[in-house]
Amino acid sequence: MLPKVELHLHLEGAAPPAFIRGLAAEKKMDLSGIFNAAGDYSYTDFWHFLKVYEAATETLKSPEDYGRLTRAVLAESAASGVVYSECFLSPDFCGGRDVSAWREFLQAIREAADAAERADGIVLRGIVTPIRHFGPEKARETALCAAETAGDWIVGFGLAGDEKILEPKDFAWSFDAAREAGLRLTCHAGEWRGPESVRAAIRDLGVERIGHGVRAIEDLSLVDEIAEAGVVLEVCPGSNVALGIYPSLKDHPIAALRARGVAVTVSTDDPPFFHTTMEREYAGLADAFDWDESDLGAIAAASARAAFCDPDTRERILKRLEKAHA
Ligand code: ADE
Ligand code: ZN
Repeated sequence: MLPKVELHLHLEGAAPPAFIRGLAAEKKMDLSGIFNAAGDYSYTDFWHFLKVYEAATETLKSPEDYGRLTRAVLAESAASGVVYSECFLSPDFCGGRDVSAWREFLQAIREAADAAERADGIVLRGIVTPIRHFGPEKARETALCAAETAGDWIVGFGLAGDEKILEPKDFAWSFDAAREAGLRLTCHAGEWRGPESVRAAIRDLGVERIGHGVRAIEDLSLVDEIAEAGVVLEVCPGSNVALGIYPSLKDHPIAALRARGVAVTVSTDDPPFFHTTMEREYAGLADAFDWDESDLGAIAAASARAAFCDPDTRERILKRLEKAHA
């Protein structure tokens, strides 16, 4: 199995449905409405998906719950060959944006990540991520949590949630605070809105990566600007197809973006929601675009180069990839 690097993974969105059902049973919560008869998460569209996601997250109450979640998620990632992963963490769900509570959640997540690294060799880093539709005020509190814990483990700051609501510039204060704390920046854009949304994220937030960004393809001059500036796209093909942005992988613009010189990376976003894994993403792309091992190896290497971790960790990961292809 090829070693892989994942840059765009929402920790709660990666929770196996059986794990959430187990927590709900322990806590005597009725979450039957968010699952279908087969036991999978059930939703009708992206906005319903966000509601189901937040309902599932209701079961995750304590730092210990987050530690267990982290172990469950990293076991799935490691089984797919992932050697390095960055996940989105939201103080909204981890302690209600209270800094000292957030520190406790983070501690539990880091201990679980250390245990996974010892067991499976998988390396995890965190990106603190406010939720766009929770609004700029909460994002400010989230940015303060991020700034307090910025370092060699919390390495980035992002923005997820409903792209149709508000504008990137509404979050400029939070992104400025995160940048001043030394965090690297990314923002979901070009998933539910077109090129203008991607332009605004780059211009108004100064991000160096874009979550998704695929709808930049609707304006080739923007695609060229992204390629020229070296802005990296965190592409999640299976997510885009599952949510109906493109009818099939063959219709997905990842190959066109790559051919035009954009640094594309591949991730799963919220794997059980979209019936995907990193192994399935790579296999699906090989099938849809006739990509061979050298194409997939190049995607993994581009992902490692775009990682927000410290240079030593990045070099270590790149060496692991090189060894697999030697
Ligand atoms: N949160 C979890 N998954 C997301 C996605 N695909 N877009 C925006 N916010 C998200
Ligand atoms: Zn996402």
